[in-house]
Amino acid sequence: MTVQPPTGPRHVAIIMDGNGRWAQARGKPRLFGHHAGAKRVREIVEACPHAGVRYLTLFAFSTENWKRTQSEVAGLMSLFRRYIRREARELRDEGVRVRFIGDRVRLEPKLVRMMDELELMTAHNDALHLTIAINYGGRDEIGRATKRLAREVAAGRIDADSVDETTLARFLDTCVLPDPDLVIRTSGEARISNFLLWQSAYSEYEFVDTLWPDFTARHFGDVCRAYGQRDRRFGAVTA
Ligand code: IPE
Ligand code: IPE
Ligand code: MG
Repeated sequence: MTVQPPTGPRHVAIIMDGNGRWAQARGKPRLFGHHAGAKRVREIVEACPHAGVRYLTLFAFSTENWKRTQSEVAGLMSLFRRYIRREARELRDEGVRVRFIGDRVRLEPKLVRMMDELELMTAHNDALHLTIAINYGGRDEIGRATKRLAREVAAGRIDADSVDETTLARFLDTCVLPDPDLVIRTSGEARISNFLLWQSAYSEYEFVDTLWPDFTARHFGDVCRAYGQRDRRFGAVTA
C-alpha cells in the first residue's frame, strides 16, 4: 500500500451499524446482513491510504451485544473467525498492522488464539494500523484500566498523588494509539453506544444514514474529505 498525505483525518473510527436492518429490508436473516457488512471491511481498509488515514478502528461487537439471541452471537463469533482466516495473509502482505481491543476473557479460546496470531504475524507492519473492537465497551475499558492502575498503586509502583489523565490513558486498551480524529456511525443512529468514550473526547463526529453494508469507499472518501473543512478548536479561540 502506498500512503498519500492529504489533510484528511489520521485516525478514523467507525461504528459499523445497520447490518440487521439491511438484511431485514431484503427479507433475510440478520446474519446475512452481518456477512454483507464483513465484506465491506476490506474495501474500507483499502481506501484508507488514498484518504491519508493511518489508523482505522472498527467497532465489531460491543459489551452490550451479548444481549442478542444466542444464535446471532454465535454467528457473529464464527464470522470473526472466518474474517481472520480469510484476510490474515492479505492484511500481512499489504502492510496492515492488526490489533484487537476489548475484553478477551469472555471470548472463545479458539477465537482469542486466532486474534493473538494475527496480531503477532502483522506486528512488524506500519502502513495502516487496523484496530478491531470485539467485546469492547468504553466504560468496561475504563473500569479494567482503573483496576490495573489501582493494583500498581497498591503495590507501591505508582504514587497515587502522581496519577492524572495521562497515567490512566496508559492503562487503556488503546494505549499505543492516537485519539480518533473522526468517528463515523452508519445507519442514521446518532449515539456512541459506549464506543471509545475516553478517546473521542475531542473527536469530530459524522452520522451518516447509509447502512453499513451499503457504505462504500466513495462514501468513506467523501466523509474524510468533508472532515478537512472542519475547524477543530480544542477549546481555544482561532484568529
Ligand atoms: C451492527 O449492525 C453490527 C453489530 C452490532 C454486531 P446491527 O446488527 O446493530 O444492525 P441493526 O442496527 O440491527 O440494523
Ligand atoms: C453498536 O451498535 C455496536 C457495534 C456497531 C458493534 P448497536 O446496534 O449494538 O448499538 P445500539 O444498540 O443501537 O445502541
Ligand atoms: Mg445496530
